[in-house]
Amino acid sequence: MSKITPIEASKRTLEICELAPVIPVLVVDDLSTARDLGMALVRGGLPVLEVTLRTECALDAIAVMANIEGGIVGAGTLITPQDVENAVAAGATFGVSPGATDILIEACEQAGLPLLAGATSASEAMTLLERGYTVQKFFPAEAAGGAPFLRSLASPLPQITFCPTGGISLNNASEYLASPNVKCVGGSWVAPKNAIKNCDWEKIERLASNSVMVLS
Ligand code: 3PG
Repeated sequence: MSKITPIEASKRTLEICELAPVIPVLVVDDLSTARDLGMALVRGGLPVLEVTLRTECALDAIAVMANIEGGIVGAGTLITPQDVENAVAAGATFGVSPGATDILIEACEQAGLPLLAGATSASEAMTLLERGYTVQKFFPAEAAGGAPFLRSLASPLPQITFCPTGGISLNNASEYLASPNVKCVGGSWVAPKNAIKNCDWEKIERLASNSVMVLS
């Protein structure tokens, strides 16, 4: 991929956030589950998949999911330039990070990887905005003040759109999505560890389609 500007990155991350109300946050422990897991979520109406770089097989899982028709696969938990390089090589088409550092942002821009960088405060959000990032992840959403906090940023910082992540479930997702500065939420609740372990793809598809039905 060729270099990407912050404006282009924001445009692309906004498009991604507009595809579905939920970005499933995936922790893949067993590579053999990656394809079925991704397909179940896509079938359920959640095409955007964030695979966190927290397991040994995460990069291989991204490579597998990158071939799922209709899916858009990103790498989560990006921390270092090496993570960015690995993610792009595996086939990730966007990146997500819990926070933002100059080094990480620069690496993503150089690699052409649109980054959904994390912010937790008005100052962090403004720092990213100064760099041209108008679409940001709000993390850890519930612990950092939840939907009321995020809604409070909408008046002073209307030019920023957020994807809150961390502690979100079907019980509180609507509250976030009702805020004018939220386009989608991220969460692991649509792909519970046990369901993945038990290869219960029907359950995961149901959780996805139910979320789409309730939150769209
Ligand atoms: C994470 O930290 O793994 C993501 O933000 C997802 O959080 P969740 O498991 O609370 O949905």
